[in-house]
Amino acid sequence: MKKLKMLVNASDVKSHINREIYGHFSEHLGRCIYNGMYVGEDSEIPNTNGVRNDVIEAFRNVKMPVLRWPGGCFADEYHWKDGIGEKSSRKKMINTHWGGVTEDNSFGTHEFFDLCEEIGCEPYLAGNLGSGTVRELAEWIEYITFDGVSPMAELRRRNGREKPWKLKYLGIGNESWGCGGNMRPEYYADEYRRYQTYCRNFSGNELYKVACGPNAEDYNWTEIIMKSLNEWHTKAISLHYYTVPTGDWSKKGSATDFTDEEYYSTIAKTLYMDELITRHCAIMDKHNPNKTIGLIVDEWGCWYDVEPGTNPGFLYQQNTMRDAVVAACNLNIFNNHSDRVVMANLAQAVNVLQALILTEGKKMVKTPTYHVFDLFKTHQDGELVYSFCENDKAGAENIPAISQSVSVKDGVMTATIANCSVDEEYEIECDISGFEARAVSARILCADVRAYNDFENSENVATKQYEAMLECGKLVVKLPKCSVVSLVLE
Ligand code: AHR
Repeated sequence: MKKLKMLVNASDVKSHINREIYGHFSEHLGRCIYNGMYVGEDSEIPNTNGVRNDVIEAFRNVKMPVLRWPGGCFADEYHWKDGIGEKSSRKKMINTHWGGVTEDNSFGTHEFFDLCEEIGCEPYLAGNLGSGTVRELAEWIEYITFDGVSPMAELRRRNGREKPWKLKYLGIGNESWGCGGNMRPEYYADEYRRYQTYCRNFSGNELYKVACGPNAEDYNWTEIIMKSLNEWHTKAISLHYYTVPTGDWSKKGSATDFTDEEYYSTIAKTLYMDELITRHCAIMDKHNPNKTIGLIVDEWGCWYDVEPGTNPGFLYQQNTMRDAVVAACNLNIFNNHSDRVVMANLAQAVNVLQALILTEGKKMVKTPTYHVFDLFKTHQDGELVYSFCENDKAGAENIPAISQSVSVKDGVMTATIANCSVDEEYEIECDISGFEARAVSARILCADVRAYNDFENSENVATKQYEAMLECGKLVVKLPKCSVVSLVLE
């Protein structure tokens, strides 16, 4: 077992970790909404307004702070008026992006906002700029948030909702450089400026408008957008980056059947998120040095080949301990960049890509990724403090073996550490200053890198209590191969 030193200085407060960094994303894609979280009011599966109770409970348990909807690519073809009113008379149409299946619009605005109320999370809407109109988006805001007398507020009332909802987060266009209209950044920036003008703050509601930011390393997109917009137009720009193990979108690799080499290349590609954020932030710093415009990584996670025999348009994949390490690395990166990263949304919440939850009929499984969100939840709304860990190199790609972040909230310190190595165990000896720790409690997620939970064995990968030693401000913890540990000190 190798020994590594770590330092934490709680007096050196870096930035606030917005709870929205622990956000999620749900698209009308495959079985994320339909036959996933939403089973309909008449289902035998216990539900609240059609959404599975076990899913709601699981979301509440990880303190889901924000949920993005209705897409994704779907958002730029979504016309919200198709999804309101009597369900039997809602339009049935083709989901052109995802599998060409019938979209019956039974999950729409009311269902989404009611779900967010049940979970206790902020709604984050992705507005249609690609194929919609300025008027359509303006009316959606009026429908949702206006308390007075107006055509849209009356329509909402006729559909059973007297009081408006609160809506903070509003994205205007999704991947406008791709599925959202294949626009050039100059054109998008002008369109964005026009659309956002008519998205009004009604009845005390204050919108937090989000512009479409870059795809991965498209630094030019960030440059032009930051040059064209200011804090009056936008509160944040988005970034999308997926971990594709092979780097080849036509053969991404299997979710469960992979070599150690592929594992390390997955982690290397995940850690690239740090470089992406650093470089996009440098451009943002140039145009917005006082950091009043945030960065929102509103799509991230692993993207593999779909499970054999499943609809290629449904993006259904299993989730192993490898995904848990990927989640831990990304969340540590977001925490460590929380001076600019104000929100992040894992793709996606249920049955799609790096899902939190998988469902099959009445059964529901929490994935290893879910357990990482559970381990990290005490970071939410904490203050990031200085931490440094000596590192070791792992795998042929020489990736850093250890990923960590530390925060303090209400006199409680949380340190989350991942051992990305599948070859080496480590003992971390951590010196803590600026914080009087009297007790430590630890939890661990650790399993074979290819281990996963399925409907026959749902507890194969699960968190358990763990041991860590605390003596005179020194914390000692052992990290088994391929593990994620959360330490809570009081
Ligand atoms: O999450 C799946 C898809 O990935 C989203 O619809 C799109 O925004 C991205 O390309």
